[in-house]
Amino acid sequence: MKIGILGGGQVGQALWDTIHMEKENILNILGEPLEIKKVLVRDLSKKRDIPKDFLTNNPDEIIYDKEISLIVEVMGGEEPAHTYIKRALEEKKFVVTANKEVIALHGDELHKIARKKGVDIAFEASVGGGIPLIKTIKEAMAVDKVKEIWAIVNGTTNYILTKMEEELRDFEEVLREAQKLGYAEPDPSKDILGLDTKFKLAILSSFAYHTTIKPEEIYTEGIEKISLRDIQYAKELGYKIKLLAISKFYNGEIEVRVHPTMIPLSSPLSSVNGVYNAILLRAEKRGDVLLYGEGAGPYPTAMALLSDILEATHTILYSVPRYYSFAYLYPSKIKPSDE
Ligand code: NAP
Ligand code: HSE
Repeated sequence: MKIGILGGGQVGQALWDTIHMEKENILNILGEPLEIKKVLVRDLSKKRDIPKDFLTNNPDEIIYDKEISLIVEVMGGEEPAHTYIKRALEEKKFVVTANKEVIALHGDELHKIARKKGVDIAFEASVGGGIPLIKTIKEAMAVDKVKEIWAIVNGTTNYILTKMEEELRDFEEVLREAQKLGYAEPDPSKDILGLDTKFKLAILSSFAYHTTIKPEEIYTEGIEKISLRDIQYAKELGYKIKLLAISKFYNGEIEVRVHPTMIPLSSPLSSVNGVYNAILLRAEKRGDVLLYGEGAGPYPTAMALLSDILEATHTILYSVPRYYSFAYLYPSKIKPSDE
């Protein structure tokens, strides 16, 4: 089973590393080894963990390679990522992406192409980093009616706000640290201005309410105007400032907005600190469902990508998704204890 990766940056390198570290596990799950054939980058001379022989700066070497059945896109940004994904689907390749911008702006078009070509596009890593969020909303919550979403879905801005509050540190200095840790977008203004959160809210709300929410329909404010003084005043009053993604669906109308919000300390969202994300789904039958975990970072994101990769490659190999055949793949390996 051969795959190609578009992008060999923070996430691409973590995925390379994870697939090699998890070689045995992957073999057990798939029944075949998973091999990365090529990785697309811009600059072939840059120092990185991926051996030079596996690198290319020509996307066609991956997109049109007949041996490659699945392509992972971790380049970021709208273009050329959108065009490459489209070409890959047209070539009947499965696609796994972490790109919230492409999914929020072009998800409908790409899903239609995938369906027509008999393949699929998966994007668990696009929202909430390592939190299994998309599967929860798309599958587990599909027959419930989600009425509200209250979420912290940007690790970089939450990290900045937390460090400013706890360590009284300067905005720019903490942003540089978040970039070094691999949390920020290739263009970090997308985090700071709330655009990354807007794309994520468009994806979550579209799936939660079974419709298409366009990013431009979402009122968006970032954290660029939040000062240390605002954070300290909020603290004195018993609040924390968080960048929230909020959406509500009542009486046939959907309200969607992204902005910094004063949250009372009694709210569970006020204790979500650092790179952590939390998503509160308020549903008609299930009531409140709260998902929490590392919302950014190369390795948690690589795990979310890997779960989509395994799902898709299993479907390619056996024509059924992995969860259907879980039971028959494992009996010889896991024995119930005698006690
Ligand atoms: P990154 O470190 O900037 O890596 C981007 C990679 O793509 C680099 O290897 C770059 O090549 C390559 N690339 C970009 N444009 C290209 C082009 N036109 N042609 C060829 N190669 C190109 O970004 P990242 O942090 O890994 O993020 C990648 C994606 O994952 C983004 O969509 C992001 O939103 C998403 N994501 C990231 C995180 C996270 O925590 N970082 C979490 C969830 C989702 P060079 O190395 O040669 O410049
Ligand atoms: N830049 C994003 C964040 C990466 O900080 O949340 C995860 O999507």
